[in-house]
Amino acid sequence: MCGIFAYVGRQKAGGILLEGLKRLEYRGYDSAGLAVADKDKLRVIKKKGRVEVVAAKARRARLQAVMGISHTRWATHGDVNDTNAHPHLSDDSKIALVHNGVIENYASIKKFLESRNCSFQSQTDTEVLASLIAYHYAKEQPEEGKNRFLESVRKSLHHVEGAYGIAVICADYPNEIVGARKGSPLVLGVGNGENMISSDVSAFAGRTQNVVYLDDGQVVLITRDDFSVTTMMDESVQPVINRVDWEIEESVLGTFSHYMEKEIFEQPTSLENTMRGRFSDDGSTAKFGGLNIAARDLRQIDRILFCACGTAWHACLVAEYLIERFARLPVEVDYASEFRYRNAPLDKNTLVFVISQSGETIDTLEALRESKRKGFRTLAFTNVVGSTIARETDGGIYQHAGPEIGVASTKAFTSQILLAAMVALYLGRLRDLSFNDGTEIVKALKKTPGLVSQILDQADKIKAIAEKYADSRDFLFLGRQLMFPLALEGALKLKEISYLHAEGYPAAEMKHGPLALIGPECPTVFIAPKGEIFKKNLANIQEIKARKGPIIAITSTGSDFPEDLADDIIFIPQSHECVTPILAAIPLQLLAYYIARHRGCDVDKPRNLAKSVTVE
Ligand code: AGP
Ligand code: GLU
Repeated sequence: MCGIFAYVGRQKAGGILLEGLKRLEYRGYDSAGLAVADKDKLRVIKKKGRVEVVAAKARRARLQAVMGISHTRWATHGDVNDTNAHPHLSDDSKIALVHNGVIENYASIKKFLESRNCSFQSQTDTEVLASLIAYHYAKEQPEEGKNRFLESVRKSLHHVEGAYGIAVICADYPNEIVGARKGSPLVLGVGNGENMISSDVSAFAGRTQNVVYLDDGQVVLITRDDFSVTTMMDESVQPVINRVDWEIEESVLGTFSHYMEKEIFEQPTSLENTMRGRFSDDGSTAKFGGLNIAARDLRQIDRILFCACGTAWHACLVAEYLIERFARLPVEVDYASEFRYRNAPLDKNTLVFVISQSGETIDTLEALRESKRKGFRTLAFTNVVGSTIARETDGGIYQHAGPEIGVASTKAFTSQILLAAMVALYLGRLRDLSFNDGTEIVKALKKTPGLVSQILDQADKIKAIAEKYADSRDFLFLGRQLMFPLALEGALKLKEISYLHAEGYPAAEMKHGPLALIGPECPTVFIAPKGEIFKKNLANIQEIKARKGPIIAITSTGSDFPEDLADDIIFIPQSHECVTPILAAIPLQLLAYYIARHRGCDVDKPRNLAKSVTVE
């Protein structure tokens, strides 16, 4: 949540900061702001609303500074307004700071500073840190040869409890920026005659591909031509410069109206990329480069615990079904935020598996850390290369789905399901799954991108259905077995981008409560592909129909779905059971997208949400 971008170089910082901020806007969009060092004064421009609002103000200000910090906010403490927007200035205006995270002991720091006649403008936790740094800066003489500004930041952070990624500037040091992280992501971009700090590498696009991923407890000082990384105890750190391999074009909207639309339509390609080079030469199993666990050790695993949040959690549920089916291994799925504090007893042969598109979700990251602390082997799927989870997990598999900008996860979800199927296949082949069954699964998986394209070709039809139901207030999403997580995902997609009430349920559970919602005003999206329990689904649909509930059915071609049973039917191609969840996801994404668009919602930046949830 919230994006930080800081720049020091030879060019005017204003435009560069705004460009970087625009790329980070998906991380939070309650307000935006920047601060630059203008001669020996700090100048802050900030405003409630999107980056473009601040950009207009900044353009009028004709900023000349070649250094500055900027921020796009997802509020945790204090209303969404101009005053609470970052950067925050210290009481004496010497220090400006941007922050991602939560300073948990801000109230006691505030009390302390107030007792020293410090006053505050905002309701945020962040502002107290700016003034605490200014307090130490004014009060303390650093040791001979030490940088007073840097030491005041370090000193202040020793008093902070909670999570932070920060970038700080000081009026007396117009060529230096200090950054630090604990619990929130921060990356250093090493340029040519310019250096940068950001919450993620996307802000560096077009400026540098050389990055240093900072670890928790590290402090960085950047100038135009140099940088240094140290620990909180001032021990020097040898930074490792990584080269980011990216295509800037991938993040560009092109002819699409929204990133979500673009990302839905990219799925034939993203799925292809997820699979690329990951099948064995004999075509009977999957192979992965970064597992870091030998096949022999994987055979010793007798239970898998999956942890994740949101859409990634739904992908875990799909993984549960598939791994249990192909590998006959017991799987449990937990919300990362619950697992973390539950102190669940785990058997020593348990493998902990986390899934996170961003690789930065704090609850998922902490679930991973907790598992590692307890000595469990950990694996992860992540999409963002170099993200904290990707760096901290014992073994990992990158999704290679390409940058996902829309807050609603689409292509990342289908690539997670695809990887889940591939891992299930791999684990199955290490156990009882036969060569023939493995070969059949591989063949089916390889066909997935083409089948997804066939569904995307029906976009106009799905759009018409979406518009027909766009004025309903409540929706029910139902499915059984592998389609149950899809029902949850369909409901989540709809509520997050269209603000309509939607609930996902296992179809059979409908009679235990949700059926009370049913009536002509509440449509049901029923996911009922061909399969073992098809007939049971038809019976459930009859029960809804008997209560006059409109039905949008998603079924497979050739399923013999009675045409008069549903008000609208969307067909997905008939396929192997491990491919069907991917196919079912596509119409659900399109339905949510077109309903939200029809209702005039801000599809890519839904209210109150942010792409990457880095606060608890
Ligand atoms: C998805 O549409 C949501 N915006 C959200 O639930 C998301 O999946 C969740 O925050 C997890 O994110 P992650 O995959 O980056 O960890
Ligand atoms: N806690 C800070 C605020 O509310 C920063 C929140 C964030 O990380 O976006 O302003």
